[in-house]
Amino acid sequence: MKLWGGRFTKETNELVHNFNASISFDQKFYKQDIKGSIAHVTMLAAQGILSNEDKETIVNGLESILNDIENGSLEIASDAEDIHSFVEQTLIERVGEAGKRLHTGRSRNDQVALDMKLYTRDEITEINALLKVLMSSILKIMEENTETFMPGFTHLQKAQPITLAHHFGAYFEMFKRDRQRLFDIYDRMNYCPLGSGALAGTTYPLDRELTANLLYFYGPTLNSMDSVSDRDYLIELLSALSTIMMHLSRFCEEIIIWNSNEYRFVEIDDSYSTGSSIMPQKKNPDIAELIRGKTGRVYGALISILTTMKGIPLAYNKDMQEDKELSFDAIDTVKGCISLFTGMIDTMKFNNQVMQSSAKNGFTNATDAADYLVNHGVPFRDAHGIVGQLVLYCIDKNIALDDMTLDEFKAINPVFEEDIYDAISLKTCVEKRVTIGAPGKEAMDKVIDINKKYLEEN
Ligand code: ARG
Repeated sequence: MKLWGGRFTKETNELVHNFNASISFDQKFYKQDIKGSIAHVTMLAAQGILSNEDKETIVNGLESILNDIENGSLEIASDAEDIHSFVEQTLIERVGEAGKRLHTGRSRNDQVALDMKLYTRDEITEINALLKVLMSSILKIMEENTETFMPGFTHLQKAQPITLAHHFGAYFEMFKRDRQRLFDIYDRMNYCPLGSGALAGTTYPLDRELTANLLYFYGPTLNSMDSVSDRDYLIELLSALSTIMMHLSRFCEEIIIWNSNEYRFVEIDDSYSTGSSIMPQKKNPDIAELIRGKTGRVYGALISILTTMKGIPLAYNKDMQEDKELSFDAIDTVKGCISLFTGMIDTMKFNNQVMQSSAKNGFTNATDAADYLVNHGVPFRDAHGIVGQLVLYCIDKNIALDDMTLDEFKAINPVFEEDIYDAISLKTCVEKRVTIGAPGKEAMDKVIDINKKYLEEN
């Protein structure tokens, strides 16, 4: 049964019905649809638009539908047009006449705008919680590795020594911003569109403040045309989700490199790796690769909705139904990726010795050797050239700077003394970097404290 059959004299073409119908995907927010309807009739009764008796009957009917869907005894009909029609139709079957009053002062346009907002709000809360769990795992690894030295890279070339805590700390900051973005979006979108009707409000004395309060919105939206056609919050959300995926993808890329035979900085646990059907020796980082790969599909959702929205005149147009599948897919993808990524780093083994010797053998202390000369009165530009010579000498002999004898140092420049060894040890190089944000333990411990507090408070 259609909600709009009265004006029609012919049956809908079957292909048209299938093309138009959204039940296969919008059934995902049956809970939000029912919650919205309960708030709507509660408001209608408070305003005297609906009798209390009818309200009770409708609310009981809606609750029974919700229960039965949840316990599996009511199956959502796949031939219904959409979840709104299905719920209303089922309600009328269950409670009769009163059910026919549910849609008073409401359109599917403001109804779907509401459902999508309620759903998005719930998902933002969930994604936020998952990010928090991931950040706790990152923080734990940071706490355990403030003295695990490794090379820091620029251009994927060894640059200066850092610590594993410092490297992970960079991602902690990224995810912190990601959560902040989600909080911002929640705040901006949290106004209730219900009561906007099809586009121009309604003639009933609705109390939109009350409906907004019942559904925990900050208040009602202020323009009914905008209310039914605003999908900005989805664009913002998909943009924030794309950024989360970009961060996860960069992290995955690093883990894939670190897990390679050439690097061996980390070893992904067997339980998070897969094998090859032909090469018996292989243990592949498929999960990290898949997360990196799925980033493209979340970006795709963002571009897709931006393109869909760009030519739509006010107010509601059916194009907007296209917001759902791609948003649902992006949201589910991001949730899955955050959880799997967290499990992967929780179980990953760090090869501290390998990381440390990589830092030692990559001339990551060359800047510190130049600083040593500067501290002994040599101008920086000259110091840079002298250390360049040292590096060339070491490359030729296949040794690290620290492996040179003092005589060898002195042969290149007489300023070098015994204390050069201490000045360019990995520990010194890192430990001397104590300004806030730098990898030195003293600075790192402060940041870890700040981050701990952040997780307690947010
Ligand atoms: N399934 C529709 C959507 O997702 C619901 C709104 C239908 N409104 C309408 N005027 N046909 O957008």
